[in-house]
Amino acid sequence: MRVLILGGDGYLGWPTAMAFAMKGHEVAAMDNYLRRNIARETCSEALTPNPNLIERARAFQPLTGKKVEVVIGDCADYRVLSEVFNKFQPEVVIHYAEQPSAPYSMMGYEQARVTLANNLTATFNVIQAVMSSAPQCHIIKLGTMGEYGTPNIDIEEGWLDIEHNGRKDKFLFPRQAGSLYHTTKVLDTDLLWFYVRTFGLRVTDLMQGPVYGLSTPEADMDERLIPNFHYDDIFGTVVNRFLTQAVAGVPLTVYGKGGQTRGYLNLIDTLQCVELAMLNPAGKGELRILNQFVELFSVNQIADKVKKVGDGMGLNVKIESIANPRKEREEHYYNAAHSGLKELGLKPHPMTDEVVAGMLERIIRYRERIDRGKIMPRVRWS
Ligand SMILES: NC(=O)c1ccc[n+]([C@@H]2O[C@H](COP(=O)([O-])OP(=O)(O)OC[C@H]3O[C@@H](n4cnc5c(N)ncnc54)[C@H](O)[C@@H]3O)[C@@H](O)[C@H]2O)c1
Repeated sequence: MRVLILGGDGYLGWPTAMAFAMKGHEVAAMDNYLRRNIARETCSEALTPNPNLIERARAFQPLTGKKVEVVIGDCADYRVLSEVFNKFQPEVVIHYAEQPSAPYSMMGYEQARVTLANNLTATFNVIQAVMSSAPQCHIIKLGTMGEYGTPNIDIEEGWLDIEHNGRKDKFLFPRQAGSLYHTTKVLDTDLLWFYVRTFGLRVTDLMQGPVYGLSTPEADMDERLIPNFHYDDIFGTVVNRFLTQAVAGVPLTVYGKGGQTRGYLNLIDTLQCVELAMLNPAGKGELRILNQFVELFSVNQIADKVKKVGDGMGLNVKIESIANPRKEREEHYYNAAHSGLKELGLKPHPMTDEVVAGMLERIIRYRERIDRGKIMPRVRWS
């Protein structure tokens, strides 16, 4: 298939580009380096030394004989994006191109404005480019489980049947996000749903939980191909942060009571999920929503897991509860449906002790690059 990956330089985008090229798809990856620029501005650079997208694609080709076409450009610029659509004529577009940091979106006016404008304009432009240049193209959009928040009822996969005053209808599941970034994802979903029901687009919105890991078959071939691995308070997801803290000999920073429960998945399962969504496209006029995670863990459970494995490797891991910089429930009910991707064929890779040990070993190789100044939270919600 002809696959256009937006945000192709990102933590998920680059591994996806390589994996799909290896499977024989024709892949184009587009990025404007927004994440690298924000990381530089906020002193949140990745632990790993990642060549830029052009250099990575150049390194990948001779190793594999496979090509990833690179476009450096801004998806929020419609002229640029529509040119890419006209030229490449994608059969599927995978839209990762957003500002994904909740803390960044909560830093102040300018960061909030950038997040809102970038994420909504990019999504709006993807919709418009599909409608005008590639109407059959399947849009696979990365949403987040954070759109649902932590309601005191079971979370369904996107939709909820409601009976009210004796009548029934089906609606998007109520969403109540906990940061401006997560709120832009809610707004993206509403935008997509409007265009799906009005103009018959085909869209899959993947409500993904936090992803961990830095190993994929392609990334393991050469150091230049590994994904951007962040461990700071702005871009680092909790598992990646705890692993790096364990290696650095810094106590794992549990926010508040640590009962915050979410659905997690390994990077290699993200690749599987996105591929399954691509090979089993949504129908015309369908907004298919799939909850994309494999296992539920509380923050305390993740800290305990990292401590147990780290201690076994002689790291002497400590855990410390610190004041929660976010506004969120620290103890809550959490039960989320996630059968859709399994029905499509997902074979989950759970977070075993071996998986945790493998990640710690990889991070130990970059130990000298860990900057302790990037570890403690710098952004507070209020
Ligand atoms: N990583 C996770 O744990 C996780 C969890 C849930 C959802 N998601 C979602 O998955 C997607 C990818 O996440 P990620 O972790 O790879 O983030 P990332 O920041 O590493 O990747 C996003 C990429 O998109 C690029 N980008 C942003 N705006 C752009 C624009 N206007 N034009 C071109 N490129 C642009 C960035 O430069 C970056 O390289 C995001 O939409 C994120 O919200 C990620």
